[in-house]
Amino acid sequence: MSGSSTAKETDLAQVVAAAVDSRRNFAIISHPDAGKTTLTEKLLLYGGAIQQAGAVKARGEQRKVTSDWMELEKQRGISITSTVLQFDYDTTTINLLDTPGHQDFSEDTYRTLAAADNAVMLEDAAKGLEPQTRKLFEVCRMRKIPIFTFINKMDRPGREPLALLDEIESELDLTPWAVNWPIGSGEQFRGVIDRRTREVVLFSRAERGKQASEQRLCLDDPALRDLVEEDLLDLAVEEMDLLEAAGAELDLEMVHAGELTPVFFGSAMTNFGVRPFLDAFLEMAQRPIARSSIEGLVDPLREGFSGFVFKLQANMDPRHRDRVAFVRVCSGRFEKDMTVKHARTGKAIRLSRPQKLFGQDRAVVEDAYPGDVIGLNNPGMFAIGDTLYVGPKVEYEGIPCFSPEIFSWLRNPNPSAFKNFRKGVNELREEGAVQILYDTDESKRDPILAAVGQLQLEVVQHRLENEYGVETRLEPLGFQVARWVSGGWSCLDKVGRIFNCKTVRDAWNRPVLLFKNEWNLNQLKEDHPELKLSNVAPVVSGVEPISL
Ligand code: G4P
Repeated sequence: MSGSSTAKETDLAQVVAAAVDSRRNFAIISHPDAGKTTLTEKLLLYGGAIQQAGAVKARGEQRKVTSDWMELEKQRGISITSTVLQFDYDTTTINLLDTPGHQDFSEDTYRTLAAADNAVMLEDAAKGLEPQTRKLFEVCRMRKIPIFTFINKMDRPGREPLALLDEIESELDLTPWAVNWPIGSGEQFRGVIDRRTREVVLFSRAERGKQASEQRLCLDDPALRDLVEEDLLDLAVEEMDLLEAAGAELDLEMVHAGELTPVFFGSAMTNFGVRPFLDAFLEMAQRPIARSSIEGLVDPLREGFSGFVFKLQANMDPRHRDRVAFVRVCSGRFEKDMTVKHARTGKAIRLSRPQKLFGQDRAVVEDAYPGDVIGLNNPGMFAIGDTLYVGPKVEYEGIPCFSPEIFSWLRNPNPSAFKNFRKGVNELREEGAVQILYDTDESKRDPILAAVGQLQLEVVQHRLENEYGVETRLEPLGFQVARWVSGGWSCLDKVGRIFNCKTVRDAWNRPVLLFKNEWNLNQLKEDHPELKLSNVAPVVSGVEPISL
């Protein structure tokens, strides 16, 4: 190897190392209405990505949001999107992976977390933990993603802060560590005390959309008593003392292991506590981490680009009817026009039109680094979980399928349209738009759609009609819970006949049990403790699925 090419490689290694060092990537997990859109726009505002928060979300009449263009997607009835926002703040490049905040959940929401290195759990102070937050939390837990909690809407009457912490601890089995502590709440919300510095940040109700001024004082400053009611301050200090007495420490290793969550109180709408949160988050968050592959852990500094597809999106631009594959860069530097290997097929692919996405805008990307997300035009060759790489072979572990909760026969009333029906079903499954299950009775050939949200089914029907020209009918199965049998068919056979449950097979011919409710599931667990069940499908690599 010549001296100059070695020098080039060293340069590249340094560039990648610096990029990894300065990158932070996260997703916000929350229940609709907790304030994700509002928090996102405030974060972007600090990042200078937009001039004024109102530019992202005009009040009232226009709820079209740069980061959350789902409404639009919904109106078009095509697909529900999660995408990524990249912005710089100080010396950090932040990638915010946007999980759809819609009532209707889809698997994309889960998959986005496969590309995230950190998660921000956003709670409404009046509501605490809510169902979608819990579901998303479970995925974070499974992947051991560090979680930072932002308790929002402190300007409104909420639950007791201590009770909110207790809830996190007892229900999620996650140790909360309050980084700041609120003084009063609702009408009487006066600010927060930073527990690490004992500095008080006073709250002033800023004009909507503007950055609030943050007056800072030391907790011991006598002037504070003139600015904040004595009883509120005393209560806050008393509660803080209680926390100190409880003795937990802000242990970064535990944070990174997903066992301890730093908690911040604030109000996204009035822009209070957002910047201190962002600063502390960037200080504590995990950099782009090493990722598991079949060949072992892959370091982000590995020489040579590698990444995996975590999401496919069809028709992002209706004028072009295109498909975009979102790739999370895991190692090395990605460059435009690069030729990469597609691990599943072994084919070489030249990536000539990579894109970076900012809401609806797209820009051609010249290069990208670990922690970034790029969009690739996908003429049908990519599937969820696919790895792209240069250099020695890497194949990332696939993205698991999550337990669906809605099951419906998909009927094709028009036999002459069967060819298109089959093509549509197979392609939508491949794309990961929906999971497909099959009856064990071969005479019942219609596929069963299995989804985590109702809208997913509607999207499938809509797309079958619009893209494949087949009208279909849904017929609900009346089941709500699915479990994979971990040991496969032989284990299931040993158990014999099972009541109150339907056995189906997934696209990889693995047994899946469907139950009407949790109660029936628990009954089976009690009757057959030897049967190991899982609510996440085992990851498959290198095996072709069954097509319709
Ligand atoms: P989401 O994306 O999580 O669904 O929530 P979003 O940000 O859209 O916020 C939901 C509602 O909560 C919005 O009110 C928003 O203004 C409000 N909100 C968000 N953060 C705060 C906060 O810190 N304090 C208070 N008081 N309210 C907050 P809306 O009435 O639905 O919409 P809009 O009329 O304000 O646009």
